[in-house]
Amino acid sequence: MKALVLSGGRGTRLRPITHTSAKQLVPIANKPILFYALEAIRNAGITDIGIIVGDTRGEIEAAVGDGSPWDAKVTYIPQEAPLGLAHAVKIAEPFLNREPFVMFLGDNLIRDGIARLVKEFGESKANSQILLAHVRNPQDFGVAELDGDRVLRLQEKPQNPKSDLALVGVYMFDPCVFEAVNAITPSARGELEITDAIQYLIEHNYDVRYQIISGWWKDTGKLEDMLEANRLALDGLEPSIMGEVDADSRIYGRVTIDAGAKIVNSVVRGPAIIGSGCLIQNAYVGPYTSIYNEVKLLNSEIEHSIVLENSSIIDIGSRIEDSLIGKNVVVSRDNKMPKAYRFMLGDHSEVSVL
Ligand code: G1P
Repeated sequence: MKALVLSGGRGTRLRPITHTSAKQLVPIANKPILFYALEAIRNAGITDIGIIVGDTRGEIEAAVGDGSPWDAKVTYIPQEAPLGLAHAVKIAEPFLNREPFVMFLGDNLIRDGIARLVKEFGESKANSQILLAHVRNPQDFGVAELDGDRVLRLQEKPQNPKSDLALVGVYMFDPCVFEAVNAITPSARGELEITDAIQYLIEHNYDVRYQIISGWWKDTGKLEDMLEANRLALDGLEPSIMGEVDADSRIYGRVTIDAGAKIVNSVVRGPAIIGSGCLIQNAYVGPYTSIYNEVKLLNSEIEHSIVLENSSIIDIGSRIEDSLIGKNVVVSRDNKMPKAYRFMLGDHSEVSVL
């Protein structure tokens, strides 16, 4: 069995972060989202992994390398444009080499991993196995209509969903899928949809099974999903204090502070994680916050947020909440006259002031 991980895509719903970085590398509880997928695949016993890459290929390759940290062999498969998930399967045909495979969307997180599901698929001899999850907003996903143990129909982002069962971004196929991806035509959004390919398999009497997953699952396409994924991941955090905490600071609840981080005259209330090289001084870090390496948080408060590496938050008078702050960002207060907000914001940035 092989794995195909999708790590192309433009991440338009996460701009401006994705103007400069791959969305799959945004850290959730200080670990790139993509690494959770690679771990899940490796834990299912799969070592031969193809990664579909697009414009952010360089960054993905720099982070994942040859796969050796996961004891896996990684092959990069360039996709010239984000032409759809079924298009990705098409171009991966030489790599997949008629073996069964699991396709994993690199921005999806599944709490319970995929080991059991991969094993069941291997034993079932089905042509495809899809995963479904109950969601509140089925119109934002591929949606399944079931009849007992049969999948009747799949629809991509339907306006009037027939159920609340969304297609999770993990799919298992045998080589029959190539007939389907070669037969379908692009959807209204101009992509070859994997949902349409599976619908083709159903209509041509191939054996398509489904599993409804019960543990949490997150597609991290949007800011609120990122924050929710971060919450869910931090809820499972193993506390560990390796950094320095001075006598005037207080740490409450499940908190991880990496070696080389310094907490000075501050309060950290978990679940929270603080990366190496951070300086947290005269500050408050509240629940559900992930602060990546080399961040300075001085005379400021932050809660329920994600901060990427090497950013500084200095002298902010009000608490920062529900925020995703990119790399090398400076958020600070100055006392220059006239008193004014002074911004230099990238395209598609969002700022809310008090
Ligand atoms: C894709 C699939 C959709 C699926 C979702 C899961 O959507 O097209 O069927 O439910 O992933 O994350 P996209 O992220 O391309 O909008």
